[in-house]
Amino acid sequence: MTIIVGFISQKGGVGKSTLSRALAIEAASEGLDTKVADLDIQQATTTNWLRRRMQSNLPMKHLSVESFKTAKNALSRSDKYDLFIIDGPARSSEASLMIAQSADLVVQPTGASSDDLEPAILKFHELVKKGIPKSKLKIALCRIGTESEEQACREYISEAGYDVLDGCLYEKPAYRQAQNLGRSVTETSYKKMNEKSEKLVQSIVDLL
Ligand SMILES: Nc1ncnc2c1ncn2[C@@H]1O[C@H](COP(=O)(O)OP(=O)(O)O)[C@@H](O)[C@H]1O
Ligand SMILES: [Mg+2]
Repeated sequence: MTIIVGFISQKGGVGKSTLSRALAIEAASEGLDTKVADLDIQQATTTNWLRRRMQSNLPMKHLSVESFKTAKNALSRSDKYDLFIIDGPARSSEASLMIAQSADLVVQPTGASSDDLEPAILKFHELVKKGIPKSKLKIALCRIGTESEEQACREYISEAGYDVLDGCLYEKPAYRQAQNLGRSVTETSYKKMNEKSEKLVQSIVDLL
């Protein structure tokens, strides 16, 4: 049976691709046959990231990335894998709804500003209105500055009625640099930073 995890958001640049890759690396290293569907047709950033990973001679076993033009195309190919991760497009309500209907778990990364949090909550409200159960919808905190900022985000999201995943991703150049080299945010050169990002990834794994 295939497990489908969809990363969606209203805004771009919030961490969908970053978390898709980190979850994929974790699952593939556990031996799960893992596919990331890259729906960013204009930039194909995760497809390019995998190419950099190959050039860096990093482990690729059980891991593949494929570009799809639409969520429908991607979903029609999901059944061949243990884990099918959808690195979704920003701003497409239609694609988000289709992904949410098919996925076992929907993760929406968000930054800490009101400019990020408000659209994130509205996006989940929109999905709930269309019949998606709240239990499937989780927020992941990404690009966070401080512990107090993390705490304030958690309170805001809980008050809005949604679950926030344990752990968070702090805004750190090392997370960008890791991905520049085809690594995931759990594969930086810094043990402490890997432990932090692993906690967030593990909280996703625990739900599957
Ligand atoms: N926690 C972080 N710290 C530093 N840079 C980050 C972090 N998360 C993401 N980035 C960078 O921000 C950009 C957008 O992230 P990305 O995961 O591609 O967002 P999305 O897929 O939602 O558009 C990328 O260049 C990525 O490397
Ligand atoms: Mg992306």
